[in-house]
Amino acid sequence: MSQVPLFARMRIALLAPAVYATTAVAQPTSAPAHRVTSPDGKNVVSIETRSGGLFYSVDRSGRRVILPSRLGFEFRGARPLRDSLRIVGSSRSAKDTAWALPWGEVARVREHYNELRVQVGETVAPQRHFTVVVRAFDDGVGFRYELADSAGFRDFEMMEELTEFTVADDARAWWIRANQPQPDRYEQLYVSTPVSKIDTAHTPLTLELQNGIRAVIHEADLVDYAGMNLAGQFERRTLRVTLPPWADGVRVRGRAPFVTPWRTIQLADRVEDLAPSVLTLKLNPPSRIADATPYRPMKYVGIWWGMHLNVNTWGEGATHGATTANTRRYIDFAAANGMGGVLVEGWNEGWNGDWMANRNGFSFTKAYPDYDLPGLAAYAKSKGVTLIGHNETAMGIENYERQLDSAFALYQRLGIRAIKTGYVNDKTLEGHAHTGQYMVRHFRKVVETAARYGIGVDVHEPIKDTGERRTWPNMMSREGARGQEYNAWGGEGGNPPEHETILFFTRMVSGPMDFTPGIFDLTIKRPSGRPRAPEEARPRTTLAKQLALYVVLYSPLQMAADLIENYERQRAFQFIRDVAVDWDTTRVLQGRIGDYVAVARKAKGKDEWFVGAITDEEARTLDVSLSFLRAGGRYVAEIYADGPRASWRDNPESIAISSRPVTSATRLSLVLAPGGGQAIRIRSLP
Ligand code: NOJ
Ligand code: CA
Repeated sequence: MSQVPLFARMRIALLAPAVYATTAVAQPTSAPAHRVTSPDGKNVVSIETRSGGLFYSVDRSGRRVILPSRLGFEFRGARPLRDSLRIVGSSRSAKDTAWALPWGEVARVREHYNELRVQVGETVAPQRHFTVVVRAFDDGVGFRYELADSAGFRDFEMMEELTEFTVADDARAWWIRANQPQPDRYEQLYVSTPVSKIDTAHTPLTLELQNGIRAVIHEADLVDYAGMNLAGQFERRTLRVTLPPWADGVRVRGRAPFVTPWRTIQLADRVEDLAPSVLTLKLNPPSRIADATPYRPMKYVGIWWGMHLNVNTWGEGATHGATTANTRRYIDFAAANGMGGVLVEGWNEGWNGDWMANRNGFSFTKAYPDYDLPGLAAYAKSKGVTLIGHNETAMGIENYERQLDSAFALYQRLGIRAIKTGYVNDKTLEGHAHTGQYMVRHFRKVVETAARYGIGVDVHEPIKDTGERRTWPNMMSREGARGQEYNAWGGEGGNPPEHETILFFTRMVSGPMDFTPGIFDLTIKRPSGRPRAPEEARPRTTLAKQLALYVVLYSPLQMAADLIENYERQRAFQFIRDVAVDWDTTRVLQGRIGDYVAVARKAKGKDEWFVGAITDEEARTLDVSLSFLRAGGRYVAEIYADGPRASWRDNPESIAISSRPVTSATRLSLVLAPGGGQAIRIRSLP
């Protein structure tokens, strides 16, 4: 700061940030300029200019992660901010604080970082200036741009953000394709390639560098901007930000003062240390909801799988799923089995005929005549269960926004505490991208409106999770990947056995997922009375793996997704009754992306742990230590293991249920079948 000329210092004062670390502590004066290091000294971000371009780089423990990579923007009707830039000043601060989450995969988060603010000015007219803010945490780094009011921006139309990520070596990347082919959605199978072979990828993008470092490129605090995609540059290791557009091609409309989302790079030495992933939470504002108790984690059942299997319909007719009688049956089942909610799809007008085409025909308040909405809501309430209102919009956004207040007010009056929204269809009718700024604004509007009515939200076909649950804890869960539904009708025969072992290290590091585990009729015998042909879609897992997914794939809303009749007389269903949905802490015991993962989680406020282990198509045995248990404690492990000859292929429902005493000194040998898994409840003995 001291070398900065006076005029620049005055300008910096004008740029003083609105949000500033409150508990500033002194930084070592020897720290080099324009460089910030994480509190543990491992992660380093440097900012510099080269020939008028602005670049950042990231190192960890002396190893390069991101080589100098460009920063900047392109605007409509204005010069790009790219080539005539210089650093005019910088300042530092630090913060160390901790806070509780109302629900989560951990109960508390420590937010500890060093911050560097770098003021950048254009050397040519119109001499705009902006700030790059960098925060270095022990588990990764984040940076964002701040465009100040007085800095020559005012109303702007951004045509691209020029941020790049040049990965230090040709790391292995796990990714799904963005932008093309249409439709643009997250519901794809992951592929794994060297970084240099990436076409265009969604984030989170998980990387295994050849130098051993594990990194996830993602973003945080996406509020009024387009979702970030990363475009590969043929045979190079540089990924360039590319933003999905409005219908007219503009990427981001804004007015200064303006902040972009944080670009985040989570960093770890072992893949197991990528979870629990809370970096994005630390880069979102504190909760705006004073009392988050209405947003209680819960398990739920629903009138849902029957439609995906094609034995029920969403629309009216002889096999309509959402009837009063059927819903009462589900409410009774939920109440008898400790499930907090009942999802009902197809209850509202709009489903008859081609609902994807007739997207503006949905009513979110008018029920079909065979569905007694107030009566059922009252019945559910009397049994301590909530209905989960289903709002499929089919991307008829204006139609939905017009009804938001009246619908949510109705649900609140009826005691409906949660909704599941849906956005089947690619673009909006007007042509705005599914993950562009128009939709980002919409998704946020739904969450904020729902909060005013005390309603929790579960979004399907969502915008990706960028940590908004810290600010809006009613934003509980979302889909945003290929979930269980693909096992009813998806191509390729359903999700392959490795799918969830990839999800854990990719999609799940962004936040909770409503995957909807718990299918018990794995060969889908019931609808047709016969097993399906092998090539037909079905869950390619064993039954024990379906149970393990409750622990592995975190969500505060966990569905028991099968038809409830498929749970009758099933001893294995006891695990779903018992499993927790809210956690004090999470430990990844072992894992390898695409192969296997074993996770232990401690139930919130209890001396009780759950372990979930899953494998891909290969059988394997994992040796795990229970050293996470309280030393000196006596526990019993209730073990749901693959049966001796279990296999996803020809014997998926074979399960061996047993129990044994364990302590923190016990080692368990988890024997997993092909496509198999193991689920364990460990409860303490008095
Ligand atoms: C897709 C959702 O993922 C699924 O859960 C839902 O049943 C259908 N859309 C219909 O809304
Ligand atoms: Ca979906």
